[in-house]
Amino acid sequence: MPRLADRMAQLTPYVFQSIGWEMARMRARGADVVDLGISDPDLAPSPPVVATLAAAAAHPNSHRYPPYRGSSRLRRAVAAWYRRHFDVELDPEREVWVTLGSKEALVHLTLALVNPGDVVLVPDPGYPSYRMAGALFGAATVDVPLSPAPHFLPDLSQVAARDAARARVWYVNYPNNPTGALAPPAAMADWVAFCRQHDTVLVSDLAYAELVYEGRATSVLQVPGAKPWVLESLTWSKGHSLQGWRVGALVGSAELIEAVGRVEANVNAGVFLAIQEAAAEALTHDHPEVLARRYRTRRDLVVAGLAQAGIRIPAPPGAVYCWVPAPGGDGDALARAALAAGVAVAPGSAFGPASGGYVRLSLTHPEAVLARGLERLRPVWAEARAPSPP
Ligand SMILES: Cc1ncc(COP(=O)(O)O)c(C=O)c1O
Repeated sequence: MPRLADRMAQLTPYVFQSIGWEMARMRARGADVVDLGISDPDLAPSPPVVATLAAAAAHPNSHRYPPYRGSSRLRRAVAAWYRRHFDVELDPEREVWVTLGSKEALVHLTLALVNPGDVVLVPDPGYPSYRMAGALFGAATVDVPLSPAPHFLPDLSQVAARDAARARVWYVNYPNNPTGALAPPAAMADWVAFCRQHDTVLVSDLAYAELVYEGRATSVLQVPGAKPWVLESLTWSKGHSLQGWRVGALVGSAELIEAVGRVEANVNAGVFLAIQEAAAEALTHDHPEVLARRYRTRRDLVVAGLAQAGIRIPAPPGAVYCWVPAPGGDGDALARAALAAGVAVAPGSAFGPASGGYVRLSLTHPEAVLARGLERLRPVWAEARAPSPP
């Protein structure tokens, strides 16, 4: 076999790909598996937005390469969305860059910002790609634990001074995957102060900004004077159910956007113009509120179903997950037992080394599927709670 790059030793298969392979093997053997692991929104996108895509695709210029930084219409729509939601002003020419969804952008930005030996700070628990980004580019990944009480906020006191001094990038994500937590603005001011002190770029992932059930999402750019230290990432994947379209945006200081944009323009050739047209249209619709109402119903169904099984969790105020402590404290064992019982759940260990005591359930599945999954999980929780034999 041809030799692979050394960095491949750091790169494990993507967790949801591995779970998907296992489910496919089980289904090939005739098993009925309910998937509550992956977050792949099932709810339909807004019909007028889909119609805009279809009409724009027929435009004679749509097949051309798009402008590298994204269409002017979409960048202006993003700036208008920021003004409406957060009262934050962005220059659509220099402070917005359209991306092929947020996953690639969140990884690529480390290419522009970190050197081998630098530190990338990642939340534990946190979205798995943050962790991989630093490792791929020779940086050290250092975990910032999120304290469960009261809001799953980052506990910076757990970061050693020598790591803080070398931290070039710090990922934060509120509304949070996997806990559903929101961050209060006062906490954000502390994060910006840390970044200013340590010359660190705060990468704020707003993937779930439009899916909030109690309270409201906040942008780090609302902190006065934060912009020079901040890159914020948006995506149409969750709030608009357009995950297969691959469209997102990075916003932040013009200098940081220019640097990350240089990477993006060398690696990608932009997002299909018709998708950008429809994504701009989507920002003027209230479809995210329609989706949020359904997810809220599902959240309540899952929280109640867990309570019936004797597992009490606070209702997550945002995002599309329930983060559930595994009875007995072993989320990997619980995920294995759940799969054997016909339900895929995401093991907490996929989200960080200190998170192995949890599993994540995703709400991106029809109510009937969630109910079936909860029913099958009931004996699994009970078994995990039972005292082990002496
Ligand atoms: C926190 C977070 N960020 C980013 C992404 C990636 O979204 P996309 O690449 O579809 O924009 C996800 C997907 O689940 C996510 O949970």
